[in-house]
Amino acid sequence: MAGADARLTLDGTTLDLPVEHATVGNDGLQISTLLKDTGKVTIDPGFMNTASCESRITYIDGDNGILRYRGYPIEQLASQSTFLEVSHLLIHGELPSEDVLNALNNRVRRHMHLSDNMKQFLFAFPRDAQPMSVLSGAISALATFYPESTGHDDESLELATVLLLAKAATVIASMQRRAAGGDLIEPRDGHYVSEFLRIAFSPNSGDMDVDPDFRKALDLLLILHADHEQNCSTSTVRMVGSSHANIYASIAAGIGALSGPLHGGANEAALKMFDQIKESGDTVEQFVAKVKDKSEGARLMGFGHRVYKSYDPRGAVVKQVADSILSKNGGDNQTFEMAQRLEEIALSDEYFIERKLYPNVDFYTGLLYSAMGFPSPIFTPLFALGRMPGWIAHYREMLSDPRTKIGRPRQIYLGEVERDYIPMGQR
Ligand code: ACO
Repeated sequence: MAGADARLTLDGTTLDLPVEHATVGNDGLQISTLLKDTGKVTIDPGFMNTASCESRITYIDGDNGILRYRGYPIEQLASQSTFLEVSHLLIHGELPSEDVLNALNNRVRRHMHLSDNMKQFLFAFPRDAQPMSVLSGAISALATFYPESTGHDDESLELATVLLLAKAATVIASMQRRAAGGDLIEPRDGHYVSEFLRIAFSPNSGDMDVDPDFRKALDLLLILHADHEQNCSTSTVRMVGSSHANIYASIAAGIGALSGPLHGGANEAALKMFDQIKESGDTVEQFVAKVKDKSEGARLMGFGHRVYKSYDPRGAVVKQVADSILSKNGGDNQTFEMAQRLEEIALSDEYFIERKLYPNVDFYTGLLYSAMGFPSPIFTPLFALGRMPGWIAHYREMLSDPRTKIGRPRQIYLGEVERDYIPMGQR
């Protein structure tokens, strides 16, 4: 839908900027012809105000702490759904029937098996290799092991969807085994998330009863991470995919974006920060004072968000689950208490109130992963596993959108205007 109800006056010329209406949330001003009509570009570093596409997948209201996947509130999905069910919802737009969900679960599980070539590929990385680099390499390599799934037709995309959900789980669980000194083991029949935990933690015999509370908690964490509209990694997937690069190359690039400490790396960074506070002997109040002072460059990791200017609804769910898992399983309660104290101080401090800085999803996830037995380098790969259906859904939406064009921003050039080449001997 479009209407001509915005006007821009520039150098005496008035232009109509058609308004594109959202079903809910911010409407947008179309400025694509601005350059042609006026010779001017817009500048918006960090995309603070720029919509890069239209999307029907996820809605966020950052002021009111609302997150919905395909219209369903995150709280309802977190309490009633499963990760594969949410994956289907994000990718195909509707909740699956029981038969469809069972078929998806069976198909994904069958593909969790790694071929010998793929195992050799994984073994070629050092045992202590940075897991996000291994994951990005492994996802990119799927294009070479399954070239039949790199096309843009529905059948190829469906196969790639199943392969990505399946192989990412086995690769991440196997990295965890290898880092802990275990051998690779084969997937068996069972629930997707249970199998993931069994592959990650069982002895080399492969026999282990997965704790149902851990399975439920991980299922929930994966749901909470499953999509977050046009965040840095998802925008990267769309940008790379807009060149018609295959889905594996696009998602491998997204994994690179997610690895940064300002994005997916914040869960690990938050846990490191808790440890550093303990080691330094600082009180929580002293640490908060350092953050506010900014001179040491300290940030309260797991706090703040580009979109949420109130409590991140995912953070609220994680905090509840962390509370129940830590009290039941005797995890690191001391750190949990310190984190809660940090939150309490920050939420009542003018610095954080003024800037609308609240805990985001990553403030408590590290503590929860740690209580489940995951070492910190695996935290961000777990985020990537959760985000997989979101990346897939956005890649597929981007491909099927007739308005998609190759992503190619403009710039404001500030360099030298023109100069003559200086021969080497004269510099
Ligand atoms: N601790 C202390 N101060 C902060 C924090 C923080 N965590 N986050 C923002 N601020 C301050 C900034 O210093 C700035 O202050 P100023 O106005 O005095 O200059 C102001 O708040 C605005 O911050 P920006 O960095 O401009 O906000 P932006 O939207 O660009 O950044 C981000 C958002 C990257 C998430 C930021 O809040 C941050 O670095 N947080 C810590 C890292 C983190 O938790 N990342 C996870 C994000 S969620 C996710 O990816 C799942």
